[in-house]
Amino acid sequence: MKIMVIGGGGREHAIIKKLKENKEIEKIYALPGNGGIAQDAECVAVGATDIKGAVDFAKSNNIDFCVVTPDDPLVLGMADALREIGVPCFGPSKDAAIIEGSKVFSKNLMKKYGIPTAEYEVFSDMESALKYAQTCPIPTVIKADGLALGKGVIIAMTREEAVDAIHSMMEDKIFGESGSNVVIEEFLEGPEISVLSFTDGKTVVPMISSMDHKRALDNDMGLNTGGMGTVAPNPYYTPDVAKECMDKIFLPTINAMNAEGRSFKGCLYFGLMLTKNGPKVIEYNCRFGDPETQVVLPLLESDLFTIMKAVENGELTEDLVKFSSKHACCVVMASEGYPTKYDKGFEITVDDGVDACIYVAGAALKDGKVVTSGGRVLGVTATADSLEEAIAKSYKAVEGVHFDNAFYRKDIGQRALKATN
Ligand code: AMP
Ligand code: GLY
Repeated sequence: MKIMVIGGGGREHAIIKKLKENKEIEKIYALPGNGGIAQDAECVAVGATDIKGAVDFAKSNNIDFCVVTPDDPLVLGMADALREIGVPCFGPSKDAAIIEGSKVFSKNLMKKYGIPTAEYEVFSDMESALKYAQTCPIPTVIKADGLALGKGVIIAMTREEAVDAIHSMMEDKIFGESGSNVVIEEFLEGPEISVLSFTDGKTVVPMISSMDHKRALDNDMGLNTGGMGTVAPNPYYTPDVAKECMDKIFLPTINAMNAEGRSFKGCLYFGLMLTKNGPKVIEYNCRFGDPETQVVLPLLESDLFTIMKAVENGELTEDLVKFSSKHACCVVMASEGYPTKYDKGFEITVDDGVDACIYVAGAALKDGKVVTSGGRVLGVTATADSLEEAIAKSYKAVEGVHFDNAFYRKDIGQRALKATN
């Protein structure tokens, strides 16, 4: 079996490492991969959104299966293009990926099918949006309709901030055409829970829950980032909450997508907020989360490739997906200054005996050395019998990973730990 994985972040590294456990797989190509992934797969210089490049590569290398990981190629239809040439894929069709690709679509879907989410209005002209912002409850949340590298959400704590956000999205186009339409929604409060799920469009099997840490600095201060660390499971996701989510959110979403003729096959990510009125959907993603994957897959005891094939073949069953009862913690090591300005090109070294898994996100190979090449450089994941031990173990491992200008949060998992105790 020859497999190709599209993408080049820490999440893709975690997927590749997990796939390698399957002995049926002889070869894994990463398009484009990165300098760290290069230790586990053959990296190919084809960009993650280059559909023609991926199709040509699959044809000329007799690829048997493809995992399309990031949101943008999925929303652009890469899985469809590969299936058209007979390459089975893990990843939704373009028609289904719209659940992440358009917030207007996903909000309207939830409203139509009674799936709990924040109240909202959609605007396609700035004047109406500005008028609404004069009277809507504050704080309020303004979201660009389309993909915006995970940055298209502005939480306005004052009316002035709301007005500024509308101007910057709809007039200054800070998120490009993604901001042509905006959703303005109710500000919700409560702990956030990430639940990734496998679904073949009929059966939905949630993976172990997790908690992301989106802000750059300790105590959830600083700018929003792509994620500075994660823990799994999420203590707020109790069996009662899980049941409520299954009945009111997960199954209704799968059914709604089928009813719309947009059957979803792949990993459907539910970004949830546990409000005092129960769990509500903050966002859907049409893919594995990053860095959630870096704590979820290390706890997966089943074979990932078997599950992925079952999803593609419409044969997913619950017994294919088993998680361990352990805990995982992933600390992201970033470049100082991320998410705004940072230097790169520093050599990354790892001490002997580091007892953790290192998932590389932003690194390149230069003169035979692995050097930093991005804001989020790598994630250090440890697993243990308790959350406390997993946190301690991953921070201990972090001390054995070195590069200049390294920066990381010191409090990953502390909120979860408090909730546990
Ligand atoms: P998103 O890109 O949709 O995940 O949003 C980024 C972050 O903004 C989320 O993880 C939440 O912390 C926050 N957020 C999004 N929507 C809301 C909302 N309606 N109320 C409060 N916070 C929100
Ligand atoms: N960690 C959030 C995301 O992957 O969108």
